[in-house]
Amino acid sequence: MRNFIIDTDTASDDAVALVMALRQPDIDVKAITVVAGNVPLSQGLQNALYTAELCCASVPVYAGCAKPLLRDLETAEIVHGDDGMGDIGLPLGGRQPAPGHAADVLRQAVNANAGDITLVTLGPLTNVALALLREPELASRVSRCVIMGGIGTGHGNVTPTAEFNIWVDPEAAKIVYESGMDITMVGWDISWQFVTFDADQADEIRGIGTPLAEFVIDIQKTLTEFSMRENALAGFDLPDPIVMAAAIDPSICQYERFRVDVTTGDGLARGITVVDRLGVTGREPNVDVAVSADRAAFVELLQRSVS
Ligand code: BDR
Ligand code: CA
Repeated sequence: MRNFIIDTDTASDDAVALVMALRQPDIDVKAITVVAGNVPLSQGLQNALYTAELCCASVPVYAGCAKPLLRDLETAEIVHGDDGMGDIGLPLGGRQPAPGHAADVLRQAVNANAGDITLVTLGPLTNVALALLREPELASRVSRCVIMGGIGTGHGNVTPTAEFNIWVDPEAAKIVYESGMDITMVGWDISWQFVTFDADQADEIRGIGTPLAEFVIDIQKTLTEFSMRENALAGFDLPDPIVMAAAIDPSICQYERFRVDVTTGDGLARGITVVDRLGVTGREPNVDVAVSADRAAFVELLQRSVS
């Protein structure tokens, strides 16, 4: 068994990533920690709890930070729906998280499984940064931290150069990127290029016919409309699931190692992952940056997860 911790601002693509991890027979998800991002913390918790229940998984789900370290929270209901899950009428209320704060749980889970734990982050990095501020040595105890965040190359989805998760809490991202952890970054550029699903491709997954297959497609309703309208895509894309796939099976992506720094300015200078491809800063490379992905292998993993 491999040990995972998943930190998530659970909305429609996070939920698919959770399904993928929770359905892997050889992965033990020690904890799901929730952070504010796509939706406020309370909604993200309900979405994570509902998804875990649908997977019949007895994984504990913990509440974390309700806002970024220094900034006001910016949410993305326009991307994922008012409830973050496509507003398709799911019963997303009334479930209880486990007691304890996500940042404490992250520390406990990493320390209890030092050297044998993969941390997968699917939202703003607030919870992880808080844990690292309290206990910087955690960085060396995480075997691999796979981050959905930033842009490896090309355009952003919040500003021309910034991706949502890093943009929401750039100070937290800077702490994590400079922590010395073994970081793999799968940016939004990998998502829209390799794992966009048009209507036929979505129907193929939904046609598997299980409740999970229908769930992972139906909750992308708002995301599909947004992605076609605002991102010029042929359908919805799945940023968090391709990151989870890279955590489950690293060979699904290809990587190059670069120095990556995070900007903490305002306006256009907010939350950019600056990838030093030519080594012009002369600084030690610190991140394995995904540069491409194997779509067929991803689809096969997704299909297996919902079958
Ligand atoms: C990221 O932002 C959120 O909208 C998604 O859940 C994903 O984590 C993509 O930029
Ligand atoms: Ca997310």
